Amino acid sequence: MMANAPKDLSTQDYRKMDQAHAWHPLFQHQLLDQSDLLVFEKANGTTIIDADGNEYLDAYSALWNVNVGYGRQEIADAVYEQIQKLPYYPHAQINIPATLLAEKLTGLLPGDLNHVYFCNSGSEANETAIKMARQYGRQKYPGENRYKIISRYRGYHGFTYGAMSATGQTRRRKAFEPLVPGFHHVHPPYTYRYAHGRSESDFGIACANEIEKVVQWEGVETVIAVIAEPIIGGGGVLVPPDTYLPRVREICDKYGLLLILDEVITGFGRTGKMFGCEHWDVEPDIITLAKGLTSGYIPLGAAVASDAVFEEFLGEPGESREFAQVCTYGGHPVACAAGLANLEILTEERLSENSERVGAYLLKNLKTLESLPIVGDVRGKGLMIGVELVKDSDRTQLDTATTKAICGEILKRGIIVGRIGQTVDEPENIIFLAPPLILTIAEADRIFETLHDVLTNF
Ligand SMILES: Cc1ncc(COP(=O)(O)O)c(C=O)c1O
Repeated sequence: MMANAPKDLSTQDYRKMDQAHAWHPLFQHQLLDQSDLLVFEKANGTTIIDADGNEYLDAYSALWNVNVGYGRQEIADAVYEQIQKLPYYPHAQINIPATLLAEKLTGLLPGDLNHVYFCNSGSEANETAIKMARQYGRQKYPGENRYKIISRYRGYHGFTYGAMSATGQTRRRKAFEPLVPGFHHVHPPYTYRYAHGRSESDFGIACANEIEKVVQWEGVETVIAVIAEPIIGGGGVLVPPDTYLPRVREICDKYGLLLILDEVITGFGRTGKMFGCEHWDVEPDIITLAKGLTSGYIPLGAAVASDAVFEEFLGEPGESREFAQVCTYGGHPVACAAGLANLEILTEERLSENSERVGAYLLKNLKTLESLPIVGDVRGKGLMIGVELVKDSDRTQLDTATTKAICGEILKRGIIVGRIGQTVDEPENIIFLAPPLILTIAEADRIFETLHDVLTNF
């Protein structure tokens, strides 16, 4: 039952009310077609239903995050029970769901990522990791001033000031400059556009070596960390060459830098493994998580540190080595109860494996679309796929308006896809597919056939 929902309001009434009072993200409210925003009311499995009863296959999992699909009674029950038992207490003390979730999570994570700091979102998780890295730098290297952080253009790490400063999507930063000092950006490992005839393997090494060059130029005594998504998500689904992440890890080790992997999208089965870094056997010093941690049912984020990082924060009372950050809703018992129920579903139903199997099948089919003149590159891992559209064989990017119209046509046929938006000053020509990890082969066929049909006829 929807609490206090006004009765007998039409979709149009909701739109009018919304238009008057709600401010949507990345949205130009002056546009006449703003009333076309969909009014979503309910959802189940991979299907989302609008207030007029139209059904859509959500091939974007809302915002890359409803990994277990909609309508999971187990999560609803866990939340309901926890609200009745203990709705909230700050994480200055222990609450049982947060303890159980930290234990469960560290059991799933690779290596010795054993120390979970809870917060509420992906931005906060990265904000936390950045601050952890800077405080770690001061305590690990006393007398030096290591605070600089290297990240990549096109990478996205969040909307708060630190995370936004690490973000390499300049269109999302410009209006808010000046940003936090001490962030430096390098090329993303975007093979399709920047390899320029080099082998994938050489290109991967060259991109990683650019990080080393920046460390040397800036002075190693000033740099503390590299932050990266294992696969850049919103910046274009950029799957790096296999040589890239292992080389980044080597560089971090050589110069004593922390490697922060932002797995806000790639975590929890999205790429066909529980965590994206497992594709390359690379273990970060800090991993950041959100989205799939609760599959979006309730906001929750986390930054998880290795033993070595955590130990730098140990000290006698009065030494002030403890991590200097508090977050009112960090470790929220209700959110953690949702996270626990969500992780149980993910592991019991082996959804990473389904993501790998159905994702590989869908990617193989979608790859055949590269024979169409409008499709330049199809890439991805698991159920995280990007379809890059072009104008011609010299890879000129398709314009934003046409890409938008293509997504609109796909929507008319009952499938929601994502689209790159407001990243760098280039055409927005990449379609995103990131369906719930419960996707079936039949649903994958439907997505493929719809894209095939729309892209063939555009
Ligand atoms: C890789 C990555 N990191 C961080 C974030 C920020 O997460 P949030 O929007 O939950 O703050 C996002 C959001 O899409 C993301 O894709």
